[in-house]
Amino acid sequence: MLEVDSIDVAYGAVQVIWDVSLSVEKGETVALLGANGAGKTTVLKSICGPLVPTAGDIRFEGESIGGLQQDEVVPKGITHVPEGREIFHESSVHENLTLGAYANRDGMEDRRRRVYEIFPRLEERSGQSAGTLSGGEQQMLAIGRGLMSDPDLVLLDEASLGLAPVLVDDVFDAIERINEEGTTVLLVEQDVHNALRVADRGYVLESGRVSLSGSAEELADDERVAASYLGG
Ligand SMILES: Nc1ncnc2c1ncn2[C@@H]1O[C@H](COP(=O)(O)OP(=O)(O)OP(=O)(O)O)[C@@H](O)[C@H]1O
Ligand SMILES: [Mg+2]
Repeated sequence: MLEVDSIDVAYGAVQVIWDVSLSVEKGETVALLGANGAGKTTVLKSICGPLVPTAGDIRFEGESIGGLQQDEVVPKGITHVPEGREIFHESSVHENLTLGAYANRDGMEDRRRRVYEIFPRLEERSGQSAGTLSGGEQQMLAIGRGLMSDPDLVLLDEASLGLAPVLVDDVFDAIERINEEGTTVLLVEQDVHNALRVADRGYVLESGRVSLSGSAEELADDERVAASYLGG
């Protein structure tokens, strides 16, 4: 479904991604792991728009998307839920979900119902302004808003960051459910334990390069992953 093929990415003159390749098959959940600054967010931003690779190519359903901007990628079926919960604080939960459907309003109410089934807390607070939600509720809204464009592939950047353990479990359960209902998932996570619990496969980025890849089981058992990320 998604093929990232030997991309280099730079901010101005400073290259931060070197020769990164990864693939995501339809129906999979794939985890992109790595330390702070390894380049995970940069890779997602190259897939979904704002950044354009300086070398290599990115293909979605066989079509090159490496040079497209975010508003061109969303109609193709890719949604990005960015780091840091970029929701509209002044707007209500309901309005934020409507805004998420901007590219595709057909069936919007069915999708809103699906989001409320996955996150019942959002339905209870549908009229509340988003800025007054708790951090965890804002994260649920950010994911829910991403689902409103009816994506085939959702890119999740640190969906669980900063949440209390009980909410982390809720968010990962929601990711599993979203995937089981047919949406393919590429997730960036520092919570390696939970990421490998829900993922089929994963890649580890180190200093802008892929240093390891394999099935979730292989990565969870890998000594290097355990030493660096699982407190082993
Ligand atoms: N806008 C920018 N301009 C210049 N350098 C940047 C910019 N954004 C990120 N970088 C640099 O690119 C490198 C990769 O950053 P990136 O945000 O992709 O890392 P990350 O793996 O997502 O880290 P984290 O886990 O902390 O979110 C870092 O060295 C970072 O300082
Ligand atoms: Mg990041």
